[in-house]
Amino acid sequence: MNHFVSMKDVTEHELMQLIKLSDEMDYNNGSTPFKEQLFAGNLFFEPSTRTKMSFLVAERKLGIEALDFHNESSSTLKGESMYDTAKTFESIGASFLVIRHSTNNTAQQLAKQINIPIINAGDGTGEHPTQCLLDLYTMYEEFKEFRGLNVAIVGDIKHSRVARSNAYALQTLGANVFLSCKKEWQDPSLDFPYMELDQAVKICDVIMLLRVQEERHKQHNRLYKTSYLSDYGLTKERANNMLDHAIIMHPAPVNRGVEIDSELVECKNSRIFKQMENGVKTRMAVIYQLCQSRGITHGNYYQKRQPIIVK
Ligand code: CP
Repeated sequence: MNHFVSMKDVTEHELMQLIKLSDEMDYNNGSTPFKEQLFAGNLFFEPSTRTKMSFLVAERKLGIEALDFHNESSSTLKGESMYDTAKTFESIGASFLVIRHSTNNTAQQLAKQINIPIINAGDGTGEHPTQCLLDLYTMYEEFKEFRGLNVAIVGDIKHSRVARSNAYALQTLGANVFLSCKKEWQDPSLDFPYMELDQAVKICDVIMLLRVQEERHKQHNRLYKTSYLSDYGLTKERANNMLDHAIIMHPAPVNRGVEIDSELVECKNSRIFKQMENGVKTRMAVIYQLCQSRGITHGNYYQKRQPIIVK
């Protein structure tokens, strides 16, 4: 694994290896897992709270120095291109780049042009592979397998990079993926069956809600919010019809009272804040794995503690 930009590129074996490796990430024997001082270039050209902060925590825990980049005070304001910005970071010694950008395929394109690992932290309506990995890890913690798991991805499918990454990866892992949304938000490029949420709650092990991504809508229509929850969202009534063991997920930020009744955000079946917690160790695992591929880790630093058994 040289980059982490799309779930289309990641095999079942690699996904399971990353999930198992994430479990090892709370281990710290006081030494660094790396042979040299590493520097991270976190290039966020779109707003972020969870992804940016959990990468910073992940990097700090691994002993990596994060370079202090802020788009709003960088030379991109003088017209410097994305490529030249990334190349600059490579030249001054960044060990890898974490990139969030509003344009689809930015990370994939840079992965072909730059000689250090690229991690996609969300590209337009394309993909969000590290969000997907933390989602997979959260499901694995709960169910210990993916094969045969029924997962409904619910909401603004058309504009969601989280939906795309999860649909691809869950299919790779043998889960049954269903999509649920209003007709205008269906995405013909995703070849998965659609299902009404009222039906999905009765049969699914995971109800994965998506944020309504108004910033990516061509027409802004805040009026939809008045009826969205009752028409398409997870109300308390729908949640009452969920299987006892089923879990509620959402990548957040949550539009409380729109995608989900606010009281359900922290209910006993919700894993929404657990997902955020898991974002740190899964991002540590991605960084570690990419560095291991480049031979800059101390042998099998984490694997030495407990052999990883990959199914
Ligand atoms: N889930 C997610 O990507 O959140 P942020 O936009 O806050 O990073």
